[in-house]
Amino acid sequence: MKHFYLMLLAFWFVYVHLFFLFTLNTLWLSPNMSAFASRNEVDHLTLLKFRESISSDPYGILLSWNTSAHFCNWHGITCNPMLQRVTKINLRGYNLKGSISPHVGNLSYIKSFILANNSFYGNIPQELGRLSQLQILSIGNNSLVGEIPTNLTGCVQLKILHLNGNNLIGKIPIQIFSLQKLQYFLVVRNQLTGGISSFIGNLSSLTYLQVGGNNLVGDIPQEICHLKSLTTIVIGPNRLSGTFPSCLYNMSSLTAISATVNQFNGSLPPNMFHTLPNLQEVGFGGNQFSGPIPPSIINASFLTIFDISVNHFSGQVSSLGKVQNLFLLNLSENNLGDNSTNDLDFLKSLTNCSKLNVLSISYNNFGGHLPNLLGNLSTQLNVLYLGGNQISGEIPAESGNLINLILLTMENNYFEGFVPSAFGKFQKMQVLELGGNNLSGDIPAFIGNLSQLFHLGIGENMLEGIIPRSIENCQMLQYLKLSQNRLRGTIPLEIFNLSSLTNLNLSQNSLSGSMSEEVGRLKHISSLDVSSNNLSGDIPGMIGECLMLEYLYLRENSFQGFIPTSLASLKGLRKLDLSQNRLSGTIPNVLQNISTLEYLNVSFNMLNGEVPTEGVFQNASELVVTGNSKLCGGIPELHLPPCLVKGNKLVEHHKFRLIAVIVSVLAFLLILSIILTIYCMRKRSKKPSLDSPIIDQLAKVSYQSLHNGTDGFSTANLIGSGNFSFVYKGTLESEDKVVAIKVLNLQRKGAHKSFIAECNALKILNIDILFRF
Ligand SMILES: *[C@@H]1O[C@H](CO)[C@@H](O)[C@H](O)[C@H]1NC(C)=O
Ligand SMILES: *[C@@H]1O[C@H](CO)[C@@H](O)[C@H](O)[C@H]1NC(C)=O
Ligand SMILES: *[C@@H]1O[C@H](CO)[C@@H](O)[C@H](O)[C@H]1NC(C)=O
Ligand SMILES: *[C@@H]1O[C@H](CO)[C@@H](O)[C@H](O)[C@H]1NC(C)=O
Ligand SMILES: *[C@@H]1O[C@H](CO)[C@@H](O)[C@H](O)[C@H]1NC(C)=O
Ligand SMILES: *[C@@H]1O[C@H](CO)[C@@H](O)[C@H](O)[C@H]1NC(C)=O
Ligand SMILES: *[C@@H]1O[C@H](CO)[C@@H](O)[C@H](O)[C@H]1NC(C)=O
Ligand SMILES: *[C@@H]1O[C@H](CO)[C@@H](O)[C@H](O)[C@H]1NC(C)=O
Ligand SMILES: *[C@@H]1O[C@H](CO)[C@@H](O)[C@H](O)[C@H]1NC(C)=O
Ligand SMILES: *[C@@H]1O[C@H](CO)[C@@H](O)[C@H](O)[C@H]1NC(C)=O
Ligand SMILES: *[C@@H]1O[C@H](CO)[C@@H](O)[C@H](O)[C@H]1NC(C)=O
Ligand SMILES: *[C@@H]1O[C@H](CO)[C@@H](O)[C@H](O)[C@H]1NC(C)=O
Repeated sequence: MKHFYLMLLAFWFVYVHLFFLFTLNTLWLSPNMSAFASRNEVDHLTLLKFRESISSDPYGILLSWNTSAHFCNWHGITCNPMLQRVTKINLRGYNLKGSISPHVGNLSYIKSFILANNSFYGNIPQELGRLSQLQILSIGNNSLVGEIPTNLTGCVQLKILHLNGNNLIGKIPIQIFSLQKLQYFLVVRNQLTGGISSFIGNLSSLTYLQVGGNNLVGDIPQEICHLKSLTTIVIGPNRLSGTFPSCLYNMSSLTAISATVNQFNGSLPPNMFHTLPNLQEVGFGGNQFSGPIPPSIINASFLTIFDISVNHFSGQVSSLGKVQNLFLLNLSENNLGDNSTNDLDFLKSLTNCSKLNVLSISYNNFGGHLPNLLGNLSTQLNVLYLGGNQISGEIPAESGNLINLILLTMENNYFEGFVPSAFGKFQKMQVLELGGNNLSGDIPAFIGNLSQLFHLGIGENMLEGIIPRSIENCQMLQYLKLSQNRLRGTIPLEIFNLSSLTNLNLSQNSLSGSMSEEVGRLKHISSLDVSSNNLSGDIPGMIGECLMLEYLYLRENSFQGFIPTSLASLKGLRKLDLSQNRLSGTIPNVLQNISTLEYLNVSFNMLNGEVPTEGVFQNASELVVTGNSKLCGGIPELHLPPCLVKGNKLVEHHKFRLIAVIVSVLAFLLILSIILTIYCMRKRSKKPSLDSPIIDQLAKVSYQSLHNGTDGFSTANLIGSGNFSFVYKGTLESEDKVVAIKVLNLQRKGAHKSFIAECNALKILNIDILFRF
């Protein structure tokens, strides 16, 4: 019976309300139509004003904002169905560019204003403070500047404030802290300064506080502990300092604290994971925390992320077998462990953590051996950093079970023995770094199975034998470092088929043989170091094809012959070390032309002739030419003997030059006539069909082959020069013939005209013309 009355009461209540709403609605719609219309006309005009200040709309979404539809049906607009007033604008992620019109302050019914992920610029208008109904203001990921408007204090209903990813400056205005209903306060990635006000304690509804990625200073105020609903604190990176207020560790609502990259210090309370039982994510990396890892971590069953990297934590790592949700553990760069045999026992307990994806314990003080149980870690493990400890012994073969690893670093430890053949199972491996250990044996041929490998470092070990040809299968390889081992044999040609290579370091081994011309196939190589080996033969001229080269080190080998002029094609070369070889001949003048070259070492060779004075040769501190007894000239700081002897010899020299010029001109004329004869004969022998265009019969010759064919347009091949041009003798490898190459100087006035005239003349003669502009 009671239930019946209650139901009746409920019906009556609903009925009265419906009636009331209905009558209100009809009243508004019929007699007061004009007043109603004029009110929502404000919204209409405001939207038009808002659109006016948007200058770019690449997706054309504002095209729907036209007279053919009521503004409530415009894209991104939601209205109150009864009052036809705008309650929501959502234009997230349309790449709109423009400013936020201050007129939006007139949308007095708006609850949700979302412009995130666009390119709005200018200030956030103070007028937003007039929106007393506003609950969501989401204008993150734009290019807004200026300060956070103090007037937002007028948005008393505000629950969500997203200002992240802009260029806002100034302090967080304390007026913000009066917003009693604010739940989400996100200002990450701006340029805010000043401290976190103690008034933060007034934001009694706050659940998410995200102020990282700014320049905030000072400490975390005690008052933060008043925020009983707070679940997430993201305060890094900033320049905050001091210790955490101890009451923070009593805020049992917390699920995530990220304070990475600040200057916090002090130690963490031992029972932290008891008092914060819901904690899932801890990011304390990049601070000055010290002391032990809180022992209570052994019971932290909710913990998924624990990053305390780059601090001063010390002591042993306790068992983590109950932290079964652990996804990421980053202990890098602390003082954990004490170089004792049981330092790594905790790794065994981690076999319980079936969700572990990322494990980093590098650069600590862990000693002992790697437990075989390492192979029982989660197969989900992608990333394992072990470098920079005192770990010794062999690498357990069981580690090959971690078949989903994409990164494994073990550098700078005391690992010994062979690289386990089980590593051949790492089909997904991209980064493998084993440098700086005591590994011995051969470089295993199965390295070729790791087809995804892009970084392979096994430098500074005691590897012997040859470089396996199977390395050719690692076609993704960009970084290959095998330096400081005992490798023998030649550099396999297969290495030069690794066309993605950018860094190749084979230095300090016992490699022998010559360096193949195939080196020119390394089109992306930027650093090539083969120094301190027993390489001999000429420096391959094709090295000039490695156009991305910046660092070339051939030091301490037995290279002989001339320094190839093709080096001048390396327009980005910065450092070149050819010292301690058996190079002879002169230093090519063309090296002066490499404008990027900042260091050149040719010392202890058998070079002779004049040292140039331009380019890299201008700076004695970056130029080493000592140990070549026959060099002369150069800048005075080099203290080399002068090249030209004065007196009669000078005159003779000039005479010699004159003769050389005459001989050259004669040679040119001779060659020209030979070419003419050949072409006349050709022309007679194969009569071109009338409809095939002449252009097709002309040789297409690259600048590179012209460059090679003339030894880099060397003066030795210069056979004539005129007002507008130089003529060089050259050989073309592809065609195996001697040609004359005319180089026009287009900077000279009239050169264009001369060029056209010449073309016309040659057109009649039908001669192959090779031009260099
Ligand atoms: C918005 O309100 C301001 C001040 O009341 C007024 O000057 C402005 O014209 C209004 N804008 C629109 C589009 O109604
Ligand atoms: C006007 O908007 C409607 C949708 O509201 C759209 O279908 C129409 O193409 C638009 N007209 C123009 C000229 O863009
Ligand atoms: C914002 O844009 C970025 C990239 O432009 C995209 O990755 C992200 O998912 C977008 N976020 C939202 C919430 O739209
Ligand atoms: C700031 O907000 C108040 C009300 O909250 C409003 O009266 C005032 O006009 C706003 N200031 C500006 C510049 O719009
Ligand atoms: C801003 O961009 C970041 C990164 O692209 C994205 O994660 C975030 O969700 C975006 N924020 C908003 C409010 O769209
Ligand atoms: C914070 O709350 C205190 C006490 O209720 C009050 O005196 C103070 O004005 C408030 N400050 C702000 C910025 O809201
Ligand atoms: C944390 O809470 C406990 C028990 O509720 C209390 O005894 C202790 O004083 C609190 N510590 C701080 C720093 O607030
Ligand atoms: C923490 O750093 C502050 C300076 O920021 C210093 O005054 C304080 O002594 C340090 N505390 C500890 C425990 O190192
Ligand atoms: C872990 O939890 C158990 C049971 O609640 C408790 O007995 C033990 O003392 C805790 N260990 C630590 C180190 O806090
Ligand atoms: C661990 O922390 C260090 C330092 O903060 C960082 O460089 C590294 O990327 C982190 N590693 C992982 C796997 O998160
Ligand atoms: C691994 O987890 C089981 C429960 O799933 C637990 O009994 C065992 O003690 C854990 N191992 C370690 C080393 O903590
Ligand atoms: C670490 O321990 C090993 C063996 O116990 C020892 O050889 C080595 O010198 C120690 N390293 C350091 C830095 O103490």
